[in-house]
Amino acid sequence: MSKRSGNAIVLDLGTSSIKGIAVRSSPSGFEVLGYAQAQTRGMDITGIKDAVALKECIEAVLDEIKSQIGRFEYEELRVAFSDDTYAISRSSEELSLDSEEPVLIDESILNELLDRLGVEKGFEVNPTAVLHVFPIQYTLDGVRRVVNPLELEARKLAVDAYTATVSSVKGDSIRQILQGIVGELPIVFYSPGVAAGYATTTEAEREQGSFVIEIGHSFVTTTFFTNGVPVLLAVSPLGFRYVIKDVSRVFGTSIPEAERLVKNFGHADVNPPDADASIDYFGLDGRTRRTVKKRELSLVIYARLREILNRARKVAYESFSGSSVPLTEGPHSVILTGGGAKLPGTVDTSAEVFRGFVRTGNAESGSHIPVEGPDKVLRDPVYSVCIGTLTTESRRRMEKVPMKKKKKAGFIDFLRELFGW
Ligand SMILES: Nc1ncnc2c1ncn2[C@@H]1O[C@H](COP(=O)(O)OP(=O)(O)OP(=O)(O)O)[C@@H](O)[C@H]1O
Ligand SMILES: [Mg+2]
Repeated sequence: MSKRSGNAIVLDLGTSSIKGIAVRSSPSGFEVLGYAQAQTRGMDITGIKDAVALKECIEAVLDEIKSQIGRFEYEELRVAFSDDTYAISRSSEELSLDSEEPVLIDESILNELLDRLGVEKGFEVNPTAVLHVFPIQYTLDGVRRVVNPLELEARKLAVDAYTATVSSVKGDSIRQILQGIVGELPIVFYSPGVAAGYATTTEAEREQGSFVIEIGHSFVTTTFFTNGVPVLLAVSPLGFRYVIKDVSRVFGTSIPEAERLVKNFGHADVNPPDADASIDYFGLDGRTRRTVKKRELSLVIYARLREILNRARKVAYESFSGSSVPLTEGPHSVILTGGGAKLPGTVDTSAEVFRGFVRTGNAESGSHIPVEGPDKVLRDPVYSVCIGTLTTESRRRMEKVPMKKKKKAGFIDFLRELFGW
């Protein structure tokens, strides 16, 4: 039998870039040994357009990592891909232990129960994959509520939990592409919103309530944590790509040149520093030289970013208003992560929109199992999702399960305050 190393490759398949890290597992945590990023080809907001191109792009990331660290034995591929069908919902299940006598609950019984969560009943029009399970409480024989049923006896076992899901359609294609690269190696999927949240937040923020806003190229995902677990997730399709599109349209340049301007000189502010500085760029023909004042560039970026954040807030509200999410008392934080969070001025613009305490989040700003590695990974919000696949505390395999008294009153008031309705 081969020795388990616990080493893994993690891939974050975004619509703008594919991120990858190689991690070594140790008894105390993880160490990032290599990392790479490549511009995505073959996949956009509408899905996979060219599986061959996407596969080549993933292979380029893996090759780059290999060139940094040499031969690397790993036994698992952890994957997050962008999609607009991610969700978190509350559900419950019951398992009859099929016995006259009470049965001792062990890991296998528990896993059988948790595996039932989120499985659609009846005719499946839109098959859903359950990625993570966060149990809130268990009930033995319909009466006894516990946080950990292991080693207790019962005839019936029920669970109440939050489940993070995604439509299986895109995941199935991605699995197929990845199997063409790594063969039979286990491939484990993660919800990027949940992963980014666990990487970037502190334990206190997850306990007391915090919104993690992952600003991606095509999608902005808002995940709300409270009582230590993610309880709501909303995806807005108005992503950062609209900032780049606007710059390209207003200043008459190509998308790659607009992206260069945004990344190198952009500032989400009406009055950016060095507002009168001139920035050179090429027109649509790639030859004609043009100039723009930093103030003009920043104004276009600011206007669109505000709209993107407003939309994320609205989409989150629509998802919150139909649910009965338990809420602890404040203060609550707003944590920005993903590539869009690197744009200077985003925190201030977000504070205007969300009217709360806002900060940028990366793997170093969160509290979780120790992850060591280069600053270029741990301090970069672009890698939050990758690191989050190492730090996500999905309790599918039974770990400590906190149970808190739920406080429903005041939730809408809180949202009003936060979102400024
Ligand atoms: N330093 C930077 N300054 C400004 N913008 C940046 C910077 N780095 C990346 N971006 C932009 O942030 C956006 C999001 O990047 P990210 O890598 O998170 O997207 P993605 O994961 O590919 O997208 P999605 O998850 O929506 O499919 C991109 O449009 C990218 O151009
Ligand atoms: Mg992304």
